[in-house]
Amino acid sequence: HIYADSKAASSAVAREIADLIRQKQKEGKPCVLGLATGSSPKTVYAELVRMHREEGLSFKNVISFNLDEYYPMEPDSIHSYHRFMKEQLFDLVDIPKENYFLPDGTIPSALLQEHCRTYENKINAVGGLDFQLLGIGGNGHVGFNEPGALINARTRLITLDHSTRAAAAMEFGGLVQVPRKAITMGIAPILSARRIVLLAWGERKAAVIRGAVEGPVTERNPASYLQAHPNVTFIIDERAASEL
Ligand code: GLP
Repeated sequence: HIYADSKAASSAVAREIADLIRQKQKEGKPCVLGLATGSSPKTVYAELVRMHREEGLSFKNVISFNLDEYYPMEPDSIHSYHRFMKEQLFDLVDIPKENYFLPDGTIPSALLQEHCRTYENKINAVGGLDFQLLGIGGNGHVGFNEPGALINARTRLITLDHSTRAAAAMEFGGLVQVPRKAITMGIAPILSARRIVLLAWGERKAAVIRGAVEGPVTERNPASYLQAHPNVTFIIDERAASEL
C-alpha cells in the first residue's frame, strides 16, 4: 500500500493495531505484538500514544516482544532499544511492566543461547504473535537479520554488517562506538506471526523495497523472505515506492 507520506501511512498502521487490540479485548484475550525500533515506527507509536490519550485506547491486554537489541548493551543506555521503546511507547501508555519483552543486551555470553531459546518459548507460550511490525535496513535486514541470514534462522546473536554499523555511527558518536553484535529474533519466528506489516519511508529505501517486493527470494535481501508469508503488507510512502 502506497501512501502520500509517512504520516498518513502511520495512522493507517496505528488504526490497524488499535483495532486488533480492541478486538482482542472484546474476546477477553491478550493481543501479542512484535515491535520494531529504528526511526520508521516512531510515527506509528506517536499515533498509538495519541489514541491512548484522546480515545482511551488501553494497552492492558497487550503483550509485546521486540525484535532486537544491541549486544552488549545496558538497558538504560541512551543507545539501547529498551530505552527507545520506553521513551516512544511503553512509558506513555498503560501497558503493564511485566507484559513487554526485549532481548537482554546484558546476558552473559554463556547464557545467550538459552536466553534466545527462552525468548521464543515465551512468545509461543502466549499463543504466538498476532501482529509483527517491521522496519527495513538499507541492505534488506529485518530485525537484525543481515544479508546471509537463512529463512529458517532462529533467534540468536549476530554480527552486524559494516553498512548497518555505518548507518548507526552518527547516533553513537562515531563508528568505533557502535556495537559489533546484536541479538535478533530470527527469520523463522518473524514469519510465524499471523500478520506482518513492514514500514519504509523515503528514497533511501526505494532500491531495497524494489528488491524485496519484485526481486527473487534471496538471502542477499532478507526482507524478500516475506514474499513467502500469506498475510504481509508493505506500507510505504511514495518515495520508498519510487522504484517499483
Ligand atoms: C535498525 C533496526 C531495524 C530497523 C532498521 C532501519 O537496524 N534494528 O529493525 O528496521 O534499523 O531503521 P530506520 O527505520 O531508522 O530506517
